[in-house]
Amino acid sequence: EQLTHPTFSLAGKKVLITAGPTQEPLDPVRFLSNHSSGKQGYAIAQAAKDMGAQVTLVCGPCALTDIPGVEMIHVQTAQEMFEAVKNTYEDANYIIMAAAVGDYRPEVVSNQKIKKADACMELRLIKNPDILAFVGRHKTHQILCGFAMETQDLEKNAHQKLIDKNCDLLIGNNLFVEGAGFQGDTNVVCLITKDSIDQLPKLTKSELGYKILKTMSKLEKEK
Ligand code: CTP
Ligand code: CA
Repeated sequence: EQLTHPTFSLAGKKVLITAGPTQEPLDPVRFLSNHSSGKQGYAIAQAAKDMGAQVTLVCGPCALTDIPGVEMIHVQTAQEMFEAVKNTYEDANYIIMAAAVGDYRPEVVSNQKIKKADACMELRLIKNPDILAFVGRHKTHQILCGFAMETQDLEKNAHQKLIDKNCDLLIGNNLFVEGAGFQGDTNVVCLITKDSIDQLPKLTKSELGYKILKTMSKLEKEK
């Protein structure tokens, strides 16, 4: 199968993608974050643009260059990402949430740099909104794709996320598989729908971008 099919077009379609990590500030010099590079989300945005779609990319802080011709919305925190998605998801046709959103944020953000004091310090965290689950609850015509980053029981956990967040497609990612994960240019994933699991070979993040968009287009036609 040709993954980068030159004649496959998304002209007239709006695609919304989230990418990268979030940063949850603790004080003016520190934050909680994760190892997401943003590469997979950017690769999907590039693929969608190359297929002729109108693309919006909501991205957390990452060291990647803006994609010409793509509407870029830069955010820092999960709450900012949530606001950006709430403002853009309604008229999207395809929504792909590849961001590694921080599950929790510090309950208190200090205005001043926190000074070290005792041998131990406790940090209280509160839960961030689940952006994917929100879109899953509110979507109408949109085809929704989530990611699941797991270190064990990938298929079971990813399938549960598909159901819990009302996704049409879930991309299951095992962090510990060679060629998969945050920093590289390749990914090893399985594609999960409500009635299928498809283990893919190692693909570049770009090839996977095309594959995801093609699969979403097929799911839309089957609806
Ligand atoms: N996600 C989101 N908002 C959050 C947390 C996650 O939109 N606050 C999205 C991610 O972008 C991804 C999917 O939900 O598409 C799954 O993220 P993941 O971290 O694997 O799952 P969680 O539901 O957060 O569960 P856990 O981290 O406990 O495994
Ligand atoms: Ca999480």
